[in-house]
Amino acid sequence: MAILVTGGAGFIGSNFVLDWLERSDEPVINLDALTYAGNPENLASLAGDDRHIFVKGDIGDSDLVVDLLARHRPRAVVHFAAESHVDRSIHGPDDFIQTNIVGTFRLLEAARAHWNGLTAGDREGFRFLHVSTDEVYGSLTPEAPAFAETNRYEPNSPYSASKAASDHLVRAYRHTYGLPVLTTNCSNNYGPYQFPEKLIPLCMHHALVGQPLPLYGDGLQIRDWLYVGDHCDAIRRVLAAGSPGEVYNIGGWSEKTNREVVTTLCAILDELRPRGDGRPYAEQIVFVQDRPGHDRRYAIDAGKIERELGWRPVETFVTGLRRTVGWYLEHQQWMQNVTSGAYRHWLAQQYGA
Ligand code: NAD
Ligand code: TYD
Repeated sequence: MAILVTGGAGFIGSNFVLDWLERSDEPVINLDALTYAGNPENLASLAGDDRHIFVKGDIGDSDLVVDLLARHRPRAVVHFAAESHVDRSIHGPDDFIQTNIVGTFRLLEAARAHWNGLTAGDREGFRFLHVSTDEVYGSLTPEAPAFAETNRYEPNSPYSASKAASDHLVRAYRHTYGLPVLTTNCSNNYGPYQFPEKLIPLCMHHALVGQPLPLYGDGLQIRDWLYVGDHCDAIRRVLAAGSPGEVYNIGGWSEKTNREVVTTLCAILDELRPRGDGRPYAEQIVFVQDRPGHDRRYAIDAGKIERELGWRPVETFVTGLRRTVGWYLEHQQWMQNVTSGAYRHWLAQQYGA
């Protein structure tokens, strides 16, 4: 028995692979193209562990994926690989269409061919778990109820539109071909190994190096925040007990404005790593030009996964953020290695001088 994970060198994927192998001896075949967001250093603790088989490759490379499925005969595919950053999708949507839509399509085709060739018993047990986002549901008004699995799709960015398209393909492969798929739509993750283009690690890094903490627009946009360890736990639960064809929303029951997120982060840093001059980190917050088409509010109703599968997040935003800040403080070399030339080029493009 084994599972095939895609995108397992990225933020959530690497947390998932590490957590999986901490809890089980079932091998993981980890297929990752190592784009700018894929970082083998995240998996350094697995060096020499033969339960982890890393393959550098593209999910859109059908021959490679077909070969991997035939060779390792995994009982499940857990599909994280994607282009994942909204701002990058605004600057250049092409890669998002290629990986998130075409790549997912090719992966589904390879999985379908593999699944068709299995014995009846193995076909029954096989799962294709597609990891998606709450952003496919669009933006909420302040009073609107949180997103349920039945909300209509109203994606607003090239990123969310490409994820929405991939969700539709996954659904169609169940309906048309009977492939045993599961889809999860989760909220904003945070935790160890997150690339510092996303709000929390970016502000963490900038705080420590004395750079501005940029809030887009008025900073009152709302997101639901989910600790990555809780997310990985939810995915294991859906894989083990979810019903094929079903969709599960995964959230942290933790809606915060971006201002609250960054001021809480600053307060934790003031306590754990005070600034040399004794001033509060919050003084570094600046308000910058808003993101085009910026969604105002996301909120997840994670009631279905709790009722049907008994999953609830363990961390609150404050406990999860303290753990996260602690991790970054203990892994400053990781951050230094990540913040190399390519990352600086992105900062210049996105935030100017
Ligand atoms: P990430 O950008 O950190 O990692 C993506 C990984 O996929 C990288 O390792 C990259 O090398 C790999 N990859 C990209 N294109 C590939 C390709 N064509 N073939 C093979 N590998 C490829 O992303 P993440 O934050 O870990 O997100 C993982 C998944 O979760 C994505 O599908 C994303 O849409 C979804 N998601 C993320 C969040 C979040 O807050 N981070 C929230 C909701 C949903
Ligand atoms: P981000 O981490 O990019 O995730 P997403 O866009 O997928 O929700 O952004 C989280 C929120 O923080 C979002 O409302 C945009 C905002 N944001 C800033 O205000 N400043 C920043 O520098 C970044 C990267 C994000």
